[in-house]
Amino acid sequence: MDDLRHGEPLAPRTTLGLGGPAEHFLEARESTQLEAALRWAKEAAQAVTVLGGGSNAVVPDAGVLGLVLDVATRGLAFAKEGERVRVTAQAGEDWGAFVDRMVEEELAGLECLAGIPGRVGATPIQNVGAYGQEVAETIDRVRVVDRRTGERRELAPEDCAFAYRDSMFKRDLGRWLVLEVDFLLTPGGAPALRYAELEKNAPPVPTLASVKETVVALRRRKSMVLDPADPNTRSAGSFFTNPILPNDEAARAIEAAVRAGVVEAPEAVPRWPVGEARTKLAAGWLIERAGFAKGTRRGAVGLSTKHALALVHHGGGTTAELLAFAEEIVAGVRARFGVTLEREPRLLGVD
Ligand code: EPU
Repeated sequence: MDDLRHGEPLAPRTTLGLGGPAEHFLEARESTQLEAALRWAKEAAQAVTVLGGGSNAVVPDAGVLGLVLDVATRGLAFAKEGERVRVTAQAGEDWGAFVDRMVEEELAGLECLAGIPGRVGATPIQNVGAYGQEVAETIDRVRVVDRRTGERRELAPEDCAFAYRDSMFKRDLGRWLVLEVDFLLTPGGAPALRYAELEKNAPPVPTLASVKETVVALRRRKSMVLDPADPNTRSAGSFFTNPILPNDEAARAIEAAVRAGVVEAPEAVPRWPVGEARTKLAAGWLIERAGFAKGTRRGAVGLSTKHALALVHHGGGTTAELLAFAEEIVAGVRARFGVTLEREPRLLGVD
């Protein structure tokens, strides 16, 4: 393992730009290198933390003990399969560039997921989704290494147990290393127009390319497209998931909003049914109405001026400050609405 580095700073490898170094670090460009690294870590009794694009990761100030693996494997393969095309992407492929390429190839199924930072291998973990689409709809196979046994396995969608921002991988984070993902895409398929905000802004001729451009424009407006010139994008995207609550709990939160004078009528609280029994509320809305306006600052950290769900690092801060602000938000939302927000990005070496 002569390509191993020690004390590698991780902050520059994350979009938040916070946190300490990795004890050991390896940038793996081949999947065989990844497997060799896993064997090394096992023999050396070192914990392994997988880092992809660093866009959904929070690094503790003390850094990360053990081996941090940068999955940087690249490559795409296409195979016609009946009416569809199977696209096999290596885990280290850049997600945004991958979606752009699929749209160029007139392959439908991922167009609403444009402009999302990160890498392909991370998308099944939290079932990345936006604007009415999620990767669970098109993922057909995930090839992984089972870190318990060191064996390669091929998982079908049923094995992955995908749900909103969730999968079996996320519930058992330490066990799997994603090597490649197969998507089944539809040549010449129609773009998905399912999200009210996207439908409202839809281009006159909704093609895959024009819908993709609309999505990127909407994301840009919310500072959700990485841009060095936009300080709001020094974030990990949504810092909390949207809470999905049993209907009665959601109703209590909505009543609390009316009682607190946050809204006049319950109908004014944004919400979406999830099946029959549950309701999704908008975390960004709850945060703002709990008194944390967009742009709220706490020293070197704060809320994006465009979207209350994104915590932003303004430079010179610490992860401790960021997490303290997140805790303050969780407590504020709980006090006002009785809802406990859950963190969305991963705290490396801890989760
Ligand atoms: N809202 C506010 N204030 C805010 C932000 C949002 O009141 O500061 C309200 C909006 O008015 C709207 C509702 O909250 O009624 C939902 O807002 P939005 O459409 O912006 O979407 P979101 O639920 O906040 C989710 C995803 C995003 C994804 C968008 C679009 C989660 C945790 N986040 O955000 O994903 O891009 O929908 O599909 O599900 C990410 O995961 O990092 C991410 C950016």
